[in-house]
Amino acid sequence: MIILEKGNLYKKNDNDTKEIEECSIQLLDINRLNEVIELEHKVYEGLENKDILYVDSYDDIYYEIKNGGKIFGVLNSKDELIAYRYIAIPGKNKNNMGYDIGLAYNQLDKVIHLETTVVDPAYRGNGLQDITLKIATDLVKRQGYRHLLCTVSPYNFYSLYNIMKNGLKIKSLKKKYGTAEDGHDGTWRFVLHSDLEKKLSNPIDMVISKWANLGFQKELIDNGYIGFELSKETRQLNYMKFDDATIEITA
Ligand SMILES: CC(C)(COP(=O)(O)OP(=O)(O)OC[C@H]1O[C@@H](n2cnc3c(N)ncnc32)[C@H](O)[C@@H]1OP(=O)(O)O)[C@@H](O)C(=O)NCCC(=O)NCCS
Repeated sequence: MIILEKGNLYKKNDNDTKEIEECSIQLLDINRLNEVIELEHKVYEGLENKDILYVDSYDDIYYEIKNGGKIFGVLNSKDELIAYRYIAIPGKNKNNMGYDIGLAYNQLDKVIHLETTVVDPAYRGNGLQDITLKIATDLVKRQGYRHLLCTVSPYNFYSLYNIMKNGLKIKSLKKKYGTAEDGHDGTWRFVLHSDLEKKLSNPIDMVISKWANLGFQKELIDNGYIGFELSKETRQLNYMKFDDATIEITA
């Protein structure tokens, strides 16, 4: 067990009061995978819109961990799992999201998939999605990975906001997780990307879109725009076009 960080969190009680509790963020051993699945199911059951969370099976996560993935677990003072983020290393597998955004073939081995993050409802509002993302990014950067990629449901405002706040940009909008070869039976997802070694600068155009206006956003993305920022206040997305937006990696 490797402890990455310790701190205090607010826990919401049933009677609407809050208490402070000690917690730690750890790299979880695979023998705690059952707890991960249990928390995932608990959170899924509580979701109003079940479409926003792709439910990973025990075997899915087990496979990814055996292939170099990691689970960042948040444990409360009783050593109970209250949140986790898991990441995977897709290599050149066909599920590498680099293919969804046209990443150069020689960059695929530098991709990290930010997979599922869940936070127990009693501990939401502590910024755990954000904190675990920063910890995971630091770690993979030190290991030489360069590209962070993830999917977020266009209807998952909280998650989209937290992900974009950390510099990931919307590069694609497509159906994912379907069983059909062309994926048409899947569910709508933004594919977001951050290149840890390259910053986009000097936009040549900017367009504002309402957060849930998918048709318009798809049109923008198809025309080379990148979803750049999401405003918490207005819930509007700011799309930008760059000179080299479609040719992300040239080296
Ligand atoms: C998305 C998620 C991980 C964010 O949790 P978090 O890191 O605790 O969220 P934040 O700390 O950024 O929360 C910021 C604010 O939004 C609120 N909030 C967060 N998630 C919320 C949700 N799903 N529903 C309603 N309000 C939510 C928080 O209570 C907090 O409110 P406050 O500022 O008034 O205190 C969490 O909502 C969750 O587990 N959702 C279900 C699973 C999921 O969608 N995962 C992401 C896709 S893999």
